[in-house]
Amino acid sequence: MALKSLREVSIPSVIAERPKVLAIIGQGYVGLPLAMAAIDAGWIVIGVDNFVAKVDQINGGSSPVEDVSDKQLQAAISNGSYRATTDFSEVAKASVITICVPTPLDDKREPDLTLLQSAVKGIAPHISNETLVVSESTSYPGTLREIIIPTVNEFKHADSKKVYYACAPERVNPGDKLWNQKNTPRLVGAIDQESQIKALSFYKSICDAVVSVSNPEVAEAAKLLENTFRLVNIALINEFTQLCSSSGINVHEVINAATSKPYGFMPFTPGVGVGGHCIPVDPLYLTWWARQNGSEATFVESADLINHEMPKYVAERALGMVDDRITTPRVLILGVAYKPGVGDVRETPATALRNYLKAQGADVAWHDPMVPVWEGTKPVDVDWDCDVAILATNQPGMDLGKLTANGVQILDCTNSIIGQAGVSSL
Ligand SMILES: NC(=O)c1ccc[n+]([C@@H]2O[C@H](COP(=O)([O-])OP(=O)(O)OC[C@H]3O[C@@H](n4cnc5c(N)ncnc54)[C@H](O)[C@@H]3O)[C@@H](O)[C@H]2O)c1
Repeated sequence: MALKSLREVSIPSVIAERPKVLAIIGQGYVGLPLAMAAIDAGWIVIGVDNFVAKVDQINGGSSPVEDVSDKQLQAAISNGSYRATTDFSEVAKASVITICVPTPLDDKREPDLTLLQSAVKGIAPHISNETLVVSESTSYPGTLREIIIPTVNEFKHADSKKVYYACAPERVNPGDKLWNQKNTPRLVGAIDQESQIKALSFYKSICDAVVSVSNPEVAEAAKLLENTFRLVNIALINEFTQLCSSSGINVHEVINAATSKPYGFMPFTPGVGVGGHCIPVDPLYLTWWARQNGSEATFVESADLINHEMPKYVAERALGMVDDRITTPRVLILGVAYKPGVGDVRETPATALRNYLKAQGADVAWHDPMVPVWEGTKPVDVDWDCDVAILATNQPGMDLGKLTANGVQILDCTNSIIGQAGVSSL
C-alpha cells in the first residue's frame, strides 16, 4: 500500500470527544520535548516517569534535556499545562498515552524490553475506556502487537473495553536546531482503522506532516531501517577512512569530491565510532529480529563490527603521534558525549577509546564542557598537560585555541580544526 500523508486522508476530529489530556510515559530526550510540542498544540500533559529524582528536578523547573529550556518548562508548569509525576494512576485522565521509555540492549547485546514492559504494566490498570495508546519507543516489528497489547489486555481494568493502539516511532535528533517534533514528518501505523484515524488526528495536532502506513510493523521496521542506514553508512566511511589513510590519501577531500555528484551519493563522515541511544542500538534490534525469523543480517553485523573497532584504530593513530621514548603517554580526550551539543554519554565510543588507551599503558584524562561527570570521573581543564589530544566530539564551549596555541598535537576525529599546526585529521 502506498504511503499517504495526512493531507490525503480524511480525518474526523475524533479526539475532540475526549479532553485534550496527554500522558507521556518517560520524561527523557524523547518524552519531554514531545510534552512541550503537545503543549504548544493545546494539550495538557502529564509526564509520568518512575525516576523520582528526575520528576522532582523537572517539577522544580530544571530541564534534564538540552532541547527543552528551563524557561519553557517553567512556563508550562506555571500555566498548568504540564506536570511530572511518578504516579501511574494519573494516566486515567488521559485520552492519549504515549510510551517513550528506553529500549536498550542487554549484556548479550540483545533487545532488553524490561523497561518497556514495566511501563506498560504500570499504566495498564489505569487506562480509561476509549484511550489511544501509542508506542514511540524504538523496537523490532511486532513489539506493539505481541508485547504491548497482550500486556495491557492482561492488566487493564474491566471497564476499559475499547483501547486503541498505534505505533509512531520517535525521530527526534537531540541538539538539532533545524528538525524538531513539529517539522519532522511522523510515521503512524495502527492495528485497525479506528486506531489509525485517532492516531493520525493526534499527531496532526502536533506535527506539520503525518505519514500513514498500513500497520504498526511497517512503522517499527521503518524506524529500524532509518537508523540502520546511518550505521552502515558510517561503518562504510570508517572503513574507507582506514583504507585512504594507509595510502596517504585525505579521506575528507575524497568525501568532498564524491559529494559533488548531484545524485546517488550522500556524504557521511568518519569518527571514533557510533554512540547514543539509537544508532549503535537499534540495528541490533534488527539483527536479533532477523535471527528470530531464521535469517541473518550479515551486512549489518559487519557494519557493527567495523564501528566497534574504530576506537582501537583511533587510539593507535593517536599513540603513533607520540614520541616513542615516552613510556606512559598522557592522552587527553576532548568531547566524551557521543555528539556535539548534548551531554549524553550513553553508548559513547569514548568509553572504548579510553579503555583501549589505558590498556596500552596511557595516562588518560578527558574534557567536555557539557559533561560534569563521566563513568565516575571528573573532567580536567582543556590545557591539561598531554602528549597528544584526541578531538572525539567538538563540543561547543571547548577552547581548542588554547591547545593549538600551545603546540599540542591533536588527532582531530571531527575534521573541524583543519589546517592548524600540530593537527592531524582522521
Ligand atoms: N534519544 C534519542 O535521540 C531518540 C530518538 C528517537 C527515538 N528514541 C527512542 O525513544 C525511546 C526513549 O529514549 P530516550 O532517549 O528519551 O530515553 P531517556 O533515557 O532520555 O528517557 C527515558 C525516561 O524513561 C524513564 N523510564 C524508564 N523506565 C520507565 C518506566 N518503566 N516507567 C516510567 N518511566 C520510565 C527514565 O527514567 C527516563 O527519564 C527509546 O526507545 C529510544 O530508542 C530516542
